[in-house]
Amino acid sequence: MTAQELREKYLDFFKSKGHTVIPSASLVPRETDTSTLFTTAGMHPLVPYLLGEEHPGGRRVTSVQKCVRTGDIDDVGDNRHLTFFEMMGNWSFGDYFKKEAIEWSFEFLTGKEWLGLDPNRLYVTTFKGENGIPRDETAIEVWKETFAKAGMDVAIAGENEIIKDKVRIIPLGTEDNFWIAGATGPCGGDTEMFYDTRPEDGPMDGKKFGDLVDSFRLIEIWNDVFMEFNKTIDGKYEKLVKPNVDTGMGVERTLAVLNGKENVFETELFQPIFRKIEELSKIEYGDKSDDEYVKADQQCWVDTRKQFRIIADHIKAATFMIADGVAPLNVGRGYVLRRIIRRAVRYGKLIGIEKNFTKEIAKVVISLHKDFYAELENNENIIFEELEKEEGKFKNTLEKGLKEFSKLSSITAAEAFNLYQSYGFPLEMTAELAKEKGMEVDKEEFETEFKKHQDLSRTASAGAFKGGLQSTGEMEMKYHTATHLLLAALREILGPETYQKGSNITAERLRFDFNYPEKLNPEQLEKIEDLVNQKIQEGISVEMTEMPKSEALKMAKVSFDPAKYGDIVKVYKIGDFSIELCGGPHVQNLSELGRFKIKKEEASSAGVRRIKAVLE
Ligand code: SER
Repeated sequence: MTAQELREKYLDFFKSKGHTVIPSASLVPRETDTSTLFTTAGMHPLVPYLLGEEHPGGRRVTSVQKCVRTGDIDDVGDNRHLTFFEMMGNWSFGDYFKKEAIEWSFEFLTGKEWLGLDPNRLYVTTFKGENGIPRDETAIEVWKETFAKAGMDVAIAGENEIIKDKVRIIPLGTEDNFWIAGATGPCGGDTEMFYDTRPEDGPMDGKKFGDLVDSFRLIEIWNDVFMEFNKTIDGKYEKLVKPNVDTGMGVERTLAVLNGKENVFETELFQPIFRKIEELSKIEYGDKSDDEYVKADQQCWVDTRKQFRIIADHIKAATFMIADGVAPLNVGRGYVLRRIIRRAVRYGKLIGIEKNFTKEIAKVVISLHKDFYAELENNENIIFEELEKEEGKFKNTLEKGLKEFSKLSSITAAEAFNLYQSYGFPLEMTAELAKEKGMEVDKEEFETEFKKHQDLSRTASAGAFKGGLQSTGEMEMKYHTATHLLLAALREILGPETYQKGSNITAERLRFDFNYPEKLNPEQLEKIEDLVNQKIQEGISVEMTEMPKSEALKMAKVSFDPAKYGDIVKVYKIGDFSIELCGGPHVQNLSELGRFKIKKEEASSAGVRRIKAVLE
């Protein structure tokens, strides 16, 4: 079965069950949704409807949604993790519930005219009950009946998750079988469906369910979430007026299972990309199974295959992101994009690709997906342009940065920061390089160091380890620009000998230290505040120019040690009011800032004053 046939079958099946087919939403979540940087699941664009708003398509909808999840980025390269993937799903907005959802899942999976999978190879998990929420007896009962109709008398696993005799239903806890998209929102217990990809390995009797999943013998293909609660910001689970169903089935994994591949990368969705990488690198991907490679202990072959997979996955994700309007940046979504392109470029270099290659891979990705996702072809030029630009930019510094890195025998946070600032190495890449060399990376130390330097938003620095939130990144960017305004205002009101002694930005406020011999009086503070607000009201654009460092140092102020900068630096100019050498990022226009208000002025140390200010 091809990917396109699978997508069509899914939508047709749920259409036949009264669902309205809706198109995939953008990878960029709607403006009001600041819970994640990217659309991470089919339910993501549907949250308002899961919370009770009326959907124009009615109470049953179905879609194939493009998704990006960066949480698993380090696992990409094994047999099932991807940064970009497609999720088929069906939803009930307060309409049908557990019984129909489970019965239809089973029918679609095993029905001869649908996927025709063998019910004997199917294993399902259910929510075992935890945190005051009871075990899902209904789901268990419905599964038992559903299997029974197919002539299978199935049993339930105990706490030990051991598969024996007729065990087909495995109740698990919150960690595995309770689903929520982010920190808050609609959520509930779920039931997940797994398929045995290697029955030839013999009976599973006596084996633990979790071990079978870890060894990739059982692979999860579908998740039916029974949304009964809304988790609020203060951590409470409020019962939804009407419960919903949210299901998600991975196109790539299901395709692998249907075609007897034990690996998403062996499917038609990746093989043509690998052929292209082979052509570019003159290295073969290899066609052995995961197991054979691991058994043969051909470490270098395993690694080369992993490199192919990472390049394919990352450039595919980048292609879809750019088509949805994301551009490489040092903050938020743009940072994730930058980070995956740069990681792919580094891997390309590792397997010996000399020429620029990301565009070539994007071409294959577009040809593979354009029939279902027209936005790819429509945005072809911008996709090529952005990839070329980012690849070119990074290739200039990659070699030098790697040389610099190779001199290190251990890595401090300051060195990691220098690799970022001077050579554009995303922090995660430095961490990866360090790990390859067996060096320890202290993430907390990195975080402190990055905070000290201030010129990065938290998302772009250590916060990105945790997948930082868009709203945080955006607020920090605003405070960053406000900090430039504040310094310029201080120099105008207190004198040109005023300079920065320290700065600290959070999503809530800015804190700025500067040299001044005495406490500022209320009039001075008022003048500073007014001047900043006057500039904001003028709606001046913030302009960035890249230029040689020697030239920049002649005209601009420096936020921190110029030795930390590369030869080509960024200069941020706000009209003729402020001009600073700085890594960015900044807002595009001051009108985005709102009202500037000084909250506090106090001593920081001898001869150093500290201002805390907010944007309202
Ligand atoms: N939201 C659930 C998931 O992503 C089901 O779609 O697994």
